[in-house]
Amino acid sequence: MQLPCDWQDPGLFRKNTLPDRSYYIPCATPAQALAGPREHSARMLPLSGQWGFSFWPAPGCIPENAAAGGPLPGEAPIPVPSCWQLHGYGRPQYTNVRYPFPYDPPFVPAQNPCGVYRRGFSLQKKPGERYHLVLEGADSCCYVYVNGAFAGYSQVSHSPAEYDLTGLVHSGENRLVLVVLKWCAGSYLEDQDKLRLSGLFRDVYLLCRPAAHLRDFFVHTRLTPGGEALVEVELERAGGAFPVELTLLSPAGETLQRLETTAASALFRLEAPVLWNAEQPVLYTLLLAANGEFIRQRVGLRQVGIRGGRLLLNGRPLRLSGVNRHDSDPLTGFAVTPAQALLDLTLMKRHNINAIRTSHYPNAPWFGELCAEHGFYLLAEADMESHGCTAQYGADWLHDAGHIALDPQFSAAIQDRVRRCVQRDKNCPAVLIWSLGNESGYGPPFEAAARWLKGFDPSRPIHYEASIYVTGDHRNDTANIDLYSRMYPSPREVEEHLAAGLNEGKPYLLCEYSHAMGNGPGDLEAYAALMDAHPQLCGGFVWEWCDHALYAGQAPNGRPMYLYGGDWGDQPNDGNFCVDGLVRPDRTPHRGLAEYKNVLRPLRARLTAGGLELENRLGFLPAAAAVTCRWRLTRGGAETACGPLPLPHLPPRARALVPLPAALPQGEALAGATWCLELEYAAARGGALVPEGWPLGFDQLVLHRRRALPPLPQSAAPALTQAPGCFVVEGPGFRYEFDRRTGLPRSLQKGGAELLACPAQWNLWRAPTDNDRIAKLDWYKAGYDRAEPRAYHSSAGAEGGFAVLRFGLSLVVPALQPLVRMEACWRVSGTGLAELCCRCTRDGRLPPLPRFGLRLFLPNELKRCAYFGYGPTESYADKRAAARLAHWQETVDASLEHLRPQEERSHWGCTELTLAGPAAALRVESEQDFSFSALPYTQEELTQKRHDFELEAAGACVLCLDCRQAGIGSGSCGPALEPPLAFADASFGFCWRFSFPAL
Ligand code: GAL
Repeated sequence: MQLPCDWQDPGLFRKNTLPDRSYYIPCATPAQALAGPREHSARMLPLSGQWGFSFWPAPGCIPENAAAGGPLPGEAPIPVPSCWQLHGYGRPQYTNVRYPFPYDPPFVPAQNPCGVYRRGFSLQKKPGERYHLVLEGADSCCYVYVNGAFAGYSQVSHSPAEYDLTGLVHSGENRLVLVVLKWCAGSYLEDQDKLRLSGLFRDVYLLCRPAAHLRDFFVHTRLTPGGEALVEVELERAGGAFPVELTLLSPAGETLQRLETTAASALFRLEAPVLWNAEQPVLYTLLLAANGEFIRQRVGLRQVGIRGGRLLLNGRPLRLSGVNRHDSDPLTGFAVTPAQALLDLTLMKRHNINAIRTSHYPNAPWFGELCAEHGFYLLAEADMESHGCTAQYGADWLHDAGHIALDPQFSAAIQDRVRRCVQRDKNCPAVLIWSLGNESGYGPPFEAAARWLKGFDPSRPIHYEASIYVTGDHRNDTANIDLYSRMYPSPREVEEHLAAGLNEGKPYLLCEYSHAMGNGPGDLEAYAALMDAHPQLCGGFVWEWCDHALYAGQAPNGRPMYLYGGDWGDQPNDGNFCVDGLVRPDRTPHRGLAEYKNVLRPLRARLTAGGLELENRLGFLPAAAAVTCRWRLTRGGAETACGPLPLPHLPPRARALVPLPAALPQGEALAGATWCLELEYAAARGGALVPEGWPLGFDQLVLHRRRALPPLPQSAAPALTQAPGCFVVEGPGFRYEFDRRTGLPRSLQKGGAELLACPAQWNLWRAPTDNDRIAKLDWYKAGYDRAEPRAYHSSAGAEGGFAVLRFGLSLVVPALQPLVRMEACWRVSGTGLAELCCRCTRDGRLPPLPRFGLRLFLPNELKRCAYFGYGPTESYADKRAAARLAHWQETVDASLEHLRPQEERSHWGCTELTLAGPAAALRVESEQDFSFSALPYTQEELTQKRHDFELEAAGACVLCLDCRQAGIGSGSCGPALEPPLAFADASFGFCWRFSFPAL
C-alpha cells in the first residue's frame, strides 16, 4: 500500500482534520445529555469493540488493496481501544530519556511496524446531517480510509483527531480502515518516560450532527468583587447563524437561568454562587441546545489568580498536594476506562491528594470531568516531550535540552500540540494550570505557544518547567510563563532559590519531587515543612502515581509476575525506572502512599506551652465540616483513655488551642512509662469516593519516652573456657561460643536448642533501594558489600559477677583502609543475659554507611516478631510519618512490597524486639533506639534478583539489627542524602542486651 510519506514529515502533522474544539458529546435529547453516559447519545455511534487487525513490519508491506476494507492476510480480531503489543504483536519497550530509535530528526526507522484496523458500520444517512469521526487517541499516527477513500491523517497520540466523513459515507454498510504506525516524525515530540506501546488506545466513534451546529464554545467563569459569579459562554457556530439556547442548572439540577441568543456570546450572572474547589467540588450544569443537539457542560465557579507571588483559588492561597499521573495499567497499557481512572481518583482522595499533573500528555478526554466532579486540581499538560536529544553522543542536559525546540522543522508541530491540549480541555473546571509539555528545552515555538495561550485563555496560569534551560545563545523569553517550576531540587536548594529570589516573584511549584521509586520517598515531610514556611511555594506533584509494569501471569511460587524494561528483550531499555509509583501496577498502595497520606493529613496537632494546638490544613473548609477527631492516651503502647475531641471553629489554615477532656499526665506521673497522646482524624461526611469515618491521618505526640533498662542481674559469673578459635561461656541451661576472629557469637545454645543457624556477622550492607541508585556506586567502591572482620586483640575474664569478653576489631576489604574500627565488649550474666556494647570509628574519606549493626541467622521457625518501636508499617529515619510508637507484631514471612527486590520492612526507633518460634525465642533490648528487619531473605538475595517473584528464601530468619541505618530520601532521581540522614558520623556506638526468654 502506498501510504503518503506524511509520517516522515514533522511539518505535516494533520490532513483533513476538523478544527480543534472542546471535548463534548452532542446528544439528541436534553435527557440524554443530562443523564449520560455518553454512549447513550443517539448522536453518537460508538465504534470501540472488536476490529479486524493485521500487523505489518513496515508501511510498504501492507497489501495494496488494504484501504478497500476487505479482510487481509493474517488478520485476527483485536479490541479497540488497546495497545497491540499487549495482544501479541511486536513487544513492549521501556525507555525513559533515550529515544528508542536513532536520533536523526525527523527520520524514524523505515522498518516501521504498523497495524491495519478494519471494521464496518451501518448508517441510515439523513439528509443534511454531517458525520464526524473522532479518534480520541492513536499512537503514533493514523491514516483514515472510508469505503476505500482516503479521509485524513493525524499525528499527536494523546489528542483527538476529528474528520468530516459526510461525503464518504452512505446509507447501509460502510467500511472503515485505520492504519496506525508505530513511529512518525511526531515521535520526536513524544519521548515521555513510559512504556512504548502502540495502537488505537482510546475510543473511536462517529457523531451525527446537523449541518448547522454549535461547533465549539468556551466557558469563562469570573468572580466579581461584589461576590457574584459571571459565566460567559463564547459560541462558535458552523454552517450558519442560528439561535442557541443556554440553560444554567443549579448543582441540584434546578433551572436557574435560560437564555437564547444569536450572538457570539452569552452571559449569566449569579448572585450568591457556590464556588468550586477540590474540597467542595460543587458543579453547576450548562445545557446548550441548538438545531436538535443538546450538549451538557459541567461548570465550576472558580477563579485562579496570582498575587504577591502566591497562587490563589477564589482569592484563597492554594496548596497543590499532587501526584504525576500516567494512563497506565498492567493489563491494558495506555488504554484505560473511566472505571480504572476512578479507582485512581478514589485512592488519591482517600490519601488526601488534591491535585494531578497529567504527565506528560492529555489524559482521556473524559478524565477532566471526573476530576471536576470529585474534586481534583489539574495541571493539564500538552503531549510534548523531547528530552531524548540530550542523550545523543556528546550532548548534555544543560546545553542540548532545546535541540528539537530550536529546530524550525518542529516549530509548528510543537505549537499545534499546545493548542490541541488547550482547545480540548478549555471548559474543564478542574484544569487550573496549563502546561506546555515536559522536558523539551525552550525556544521560539514554546514562546509563541505561551503568547497565544496567554491571549486565548488569560484565566489560567501557564507552566513549563523547561523554560529555565537555555540552549545555545537563545535568550529565553519567560514573560508568559507564570510559575517558577522545578523538579527534584533538595529542600536546601528550594530555600536558597527562594531566598535569592530566583523565582522572579512567581509562585514556585515542584512539578516533580520526592521520586517514589521503590522503597521511598523519604523526604516528604521535609518538603511539607518547606511549603509551610514559604507561602510562595504553592505545592508539588510527587513523581509518580503508579508503577508501570506489565502483568505476565503467576510465577510457580504463586507471586504475580510484573515485567519492566529489559524483560521483553527490548533494547535499549531503562530497566525498572518505570517502576516508580506510589501504588503497584494493580493499584495496591505502596507504603510510600501511606506516608504521603499522613504528611497531607487535614489537621495537625502540636503541644505548645498553652496546651494542645490544632491547625486546619484545609484550604477552603472549616475543620469540623470535613473532619472528626478522636483522642487516645497510651501508656507503654496500651490505651488508658480515649474519646471524641469536639473541634472548635477552625477556619481554613487557622490554628486554635483545644482543651482535652482528660488531663494529660505531667511530671512524675510520666516517669516509668512511655506515654503518647494520639489524635485520629476521620472524614466527617461520606462522599462518592470517601466513606464517612474514613481515616484521614493522625498525630502521635510522644509525651514521655521511658528508656531505662534494669541493670544486668548480679549472680555468680558463668563459667568461661576456651575452645579452638573461641571463648565459651556456660551457665545453667546455656552455652555460648564467641568467635575470636569476629568478636561475635558463633553458637548460642539455650536449653539445649541452638539459636544461631550460622555464626553472627557484622553488618553494614543493605540491599540497595532504588533511591540508593547513585549512592550504591560508592558503596561498591568502598567494598561495603564484601567487608570481612579482622580481630586485633581479644580477651576474656570474669569481672564483677559477669564473664566479660573484649575485642578490638575492624571490617576490611582488599586494597582499602579499614572501613570501620570497633571496640566491642560482651558481658554475660550467670543467668545467660548477654550485653554487647560497641564503640565504632570510621575513616571520614569513606562514603556514608548504608547501616551498621549485626546480622543473625535465626532458626526458620522463629516467625513471630514483636517489637516496641515505630510500626506497624516500615519506618526509617525519614520515612515514618505513617508509623506510630507502640507495641507491634508482624510475621517474618509477611510479603515484600517491591517488584525489584531491595531493602524494606525495617522498623526505626525500637527499644525492644522479640523473635519467637514454637521452641525458642530471642529478645533484644536497648536504652537507645535501634532499627531492625526480620525477613526470610538475605540482603545478598535482595540485591541480586531483578524481580520479587524470583526470590529464594534463606531457610532462616534473617535478623538485621542496626544501631543506625541511612535514611531513604528520593535519590533515584532526586537529591542525594545529606547528614544526618546520610550515615556519615566519624564515631558511633550502641549497647544491646540479648536474652532468650522461656516460652
Ligand atoms: C523527570 C521526568 C519524568 C520522569 C522522571 C524520572 O525528569 O520529567 O518524566 O522521567 O524524571 O522518573
